[in-house]
Amino acid sequence: MDQNAKKQAAAKAAIEIIELEGFIGVGTGTTTDYFIDLLAEHKHQIDGAVASSVASADRLQENGIAVVDLNGVGDLAIYVDGADEATHHRHLIKGGGGALTREKIVAQASKLFICIVDDSKIVDRLGRFPLPIEVIPMARSYVAREMVKLGGRPELRHGFTSDNGHQIIDVYDLEIRKPITLEETINQIPGVVGNGLFARRGADIILVGGDKGVERFD
Ligand code: A5P
Repeated sequence: MDQNAKKQAAAKAAIEIIELEGFIGVGTGTTTDYFIDLLAEHKHQIDGAVASSVASADRLQENGIAVVDLNGVGDLAIYVDGADEATHHRHLIKGGGGALTREKIVAQASKLFICIVDDSKIVDRLGRFPLPIEVIPMARSYVAREMVKLGGRPELRHGFTSDNGHQIIDVYDLEIRKPITLEETINQIPGVVGNGLFARRGADIILVGGDKGVERFD
């Protein structure tokens, strides 16, 4: 089975386990795109969606699904999103698409976070994928120097501006032994808007598409 078929299988498994009602939190990325396309088949059962990016909002609307602002709906029952890396502890690295801050807000505001990935994303320890950090532009060099002190090798994501008008630093070679502690430490650096470690609020369920079907971690 190729990687896209695995992503699609994970997305289908999410559709099968969620309550299709009310407003659904929807993430960003190619795996989530499969979820959006499947959700469109059930659009008459739900009231709409809260999107974690402009790209996902556009895709939802193209599929005839109403998109509402998080401020208008309060906490969500369900959030479905992909990840760049995931562990059996359900800690994640996200932000390869640059939507990490909005993704973290919607994940935090949701009772159940279902992460959908193909099996290439599963790792024993986070950090092979560079950790994205969203920064206020005037702070990017300062934040980069702080990340060097933490053992990382920061690189500015050139030519990229987040939906929030900020820049992204991708940090390579971090040793992420304690994801929750590192997530909190990075959050304390002035100028950091958000970081791609999802450990304090990891996924509740991970659905992993693989050659033998979809495996579930919870
Ligand atoms: C977006 O910013 C990311 O957090 C995505 O959720 C992540 O990059 C997974 O994307 P794919 O499903 O395209 O691999």
